[in-house]
Amino acid sequence: MDIHYIMLADKRRLQAYQQAINAVVKPGDIVLDIGTGTGILALMAAQAGACKVYGIEYDSMSEVAKEIVAANDYKDVIEIISGDLRNIELPCKVDVLIGEMLGSFGIEENILALYDHACKRFLKPDGIVIPQRFSLWAAPFSSQRIRKELKFWEKVNGFNYLPIQKRIQHLTKIDSIKQSALICKPEMLGEFDLKDFSGMDINGCVGFTCDKSAVIDGFCGWFEAVLSDGIILDNNPASPPTHWRQMIFPLLPSVRVKEGDTVNLRITSTHFGDEVHLNWFTEFNLSGRREQRKQAAFLGVDLPGKFTNWFTPPLDSKSKLTEYGQELLAALSSIEKGAEISRIKMVNDNDDENKQKERLAMKLLREGLIEIDK
Ligand SMILES: C[S@@+](CC[C@H](N)C(=O)[O-])C[C@H]1O[C@@H](n2cnc3c(N)ncnc32)[C@H](O)[C@@H]1O
Repeated sequence: MDIHYIMLADKRRLQAYQQAINAVVKPGDIVLDIGTGTGILALMAAQAGACKVYGIEYDSMSEVAKEIVAANDYKDVIEIISGDLRNIELPCKVDVLIGEMLGSFGIEENILALYDHACKRFLKPDGIVIPQRFSLWAAPFSSQRIRKELKFWEKVNGFNYLPIQKRIQHLTKIDSIKQSALICKPEMLGEFDLKDFSGMDINGCVGFTCDKSAVIDGFCGWFEAVLSDGIILDNNPASPPTHWRQMIFPLLPSVRVKEGDTVNLRITSTHFGDEVHLNWFTEFNLSGRREQRKQAAFLGVDLPGKFTNWFTPPLDSKSKLTEYGQELLAALSSIEKGAEISRIKMVNDNDDENKQKERLAMKLLREGLIEIDK
């Protein structure tokens, strides 16, 4: 319930959606709300005059949404359908497709693949989508607090805790970053049109020039979504706050830069089933000296739940590494001396999850994120 409360209490989010829905939905329209949650956007569409609204939700919240619809006397207009939108059939195509599947860095809730699926199957050719499009932005930031949080893991009660630190440096974090913490002008990494599919992953590269001396502790990322013409919703640190806060791509150790130094940042994403992993590559040109870093959610995957939900349980004794698994293990060992078998679970179980992991591993190898030690 927490997450629904947080989303529903985010006034900026709801006001922007209300404005966009009022501007787009015309009396008599048929509307589809994908990932309807508690049904809030479906209710707005019905209030705006839609003659029929379908709300699809795969979480058990769909049962509560049905009660909320009835409690608001919209049972004749809104139909809540329980299930995954990829497995649902609708009796007709819709005029307007709405949804809110934006993550703090836009893409990590799989919005691109889900909108592509929904548009192709459910939207009339001249139908309208909300949001129309969004762009992704980033800028280097300096934060003593984040530096301290990462430093915490060097020693705990006098004991060496670097095994945790070396993993969390590969994990993004949702946190609030002030505009004053940004040390370069933000740059746009990519732009996505939600009606015109151009792929479900990002591969964006930008360059920054430092205009002052500072310590870079990471990169701050955010989205800017155009819900409908002129109606923008974003989590730019310069804008009023939202529940999304910002996405942090940490840098460990932090890097001291001087005025005129340059930084190149490439952010890519990799799908792991419906999960979207973010990878970030940095190249610093520090008064003529070059320094490179490669960081990827995948390299932090074996931390248990509290740190990440990408926990991979240790390999059990009966499991046998696949060929790709062996390659990946070799690759991990090459970048990190003494990587243990439990770092990855590549088994011949032949289930979907393992196929996904193999594909992910091969993509990371192809991207040069990890290299095979020959
Ligand atoms: C960010 S929440 C938004 C909820 C609601 N639309 C709102 O604005 O408050 C996204 C919702 O999409 C649902 N969802 C995600 N993927 C889905 C899928 N493939 N099929 C159906 N629902 C999905 C999630 O369970 C979640 O309730």
